[in-house]
Amino acid sequence: MNVIVSLTISSIAVVVLVLIPLIGVWGLHLHYLFGVVIPYLAAATFFVGIVYRVVDWAKSPVPFRIPSTCGQQKTMPWVKRTYVDYLDNPDSTLGTVLRMVLEILCFRSLFRNTKLQFGSGEKIKYASAKWLWLGAIVFHYAFLTVLIRHLWLFTEPVPFFVQLLNKLDGFLQIFVPTIYLSGFVLGAAVTYLLLRRLFIPQVRYVSLPADYFPLLLIIGMAFTGILMRYLLKVDMIKVKELTLGLVRFSPRVPDGIGVIFYIHLFLVSSLFAYFPFSKLVHMAGVFLSPTRNLSNNSRAVRHINPWNYPVKVHTYQAYEDEFREKMKAAGLPVEKE
Ligand code: HEM
Repeated sequence: MNVIVSLTISSIAVVVLVLIPLIGVWGLHLHYLFGVVIPYLAAATFFVGIVYRVVDWAKSPVPFRIPSTCGQQKTMPWVKRTYVDYLDNPDSTLGTVLRMVLEILCFRSLFRNTKLQFGSGEKIKYASAKWLWLGAIVFHYAFLTVLIRHLWLFTEPVPFFVQLLNKLDGFLQIFVPTIYLSGFVLGAAVTYLLLRRLFIPQVRYVSLPADYFPLLLIIGMAFTGILMRYLLKVDMIKVKELTLGLVRFSPRVPDGIGVIFYIHLFLVSSLFAYFPFSKLVHMAGVFLSPTRNLSNNSRAVRHINPWNYPVKVHTYQAYEDEFREKMKAAGLPVEKE
């Protein structure tokens, strides 16, 4: 699909998602719908959808180990083995756990990403490609920080780690209100990820609306959040009354919260509802990835297919024992006289 078409479809979708709460709250005063009903529906879709996807994956047969290429040295002791090989293709549970931890916390596979380049003449060479890793890791940690910081809206008293994170993230206290760096870092990282898709021809070629849409949606969320905190201020006492009501299942919508809050909340709800059906569900999928979560012990341990069930067999010998006389009478050859 052409980049202009993909980008236009995704941008229109995000603009529509901004217009819906704008018209719904500003024009039609549907505060309860946008402040309570839609966030609850989105949260339910998120949880049910993720559980459904995970159960579906967990039920899929993985009948054999899928070792990656390095780390076969266990059975070939003459091949030198470094700790990198061990982490790449561990033969023990501890090694597999370590590989998973590094994958989830450090995006290790992405770090090892390489790109193919033409050198001088006909030769091709592999070069290091770390920018995607850097953009991805900054984006994910900034998102996580913003998400954890938002817990202050849903808790009373606010847990100490949320207060601590707010302090650390807001160390730039020279401004009022305090600048939270993670919000801006999130916006910058997600913008980089979008520009990368637009300006690198090979990445642009494989990009679809399903790639642009989540990036634009997250840019929209970060933008409306920043707008709400630093420019179009909303009454945070009223916002907290609403958010606490939501988690305590006694929702109440106070009057006078600005429409920008409902737009922010609707974009967030859209992301949550869309999450289980999109590529973003890799957040849960990484844990079930067989090339990462199975140790390479195929040569050391005999695997019996767990789906083998006892089969009632009737061997030829038993058959012949049963019908020998009849077979002989009919002139059929038999093995035993
Ligand atoms: C994935 C989820 C979310 C993301 C990525 C996000 C992002 C942001 C960002 C970047 C800001 C700017 C200020 C800052 O850095 O904290 C912000 C502010 C804000 N967000 Fe969110 N948000 C999310 C979910 C929510 C939810 C669920 C609510 C409420 C139900 C909410 C309500 C607010 C409010 C009230 C502010 C202004 C905070 C203030 O003035 O201190 N956000 N958001």
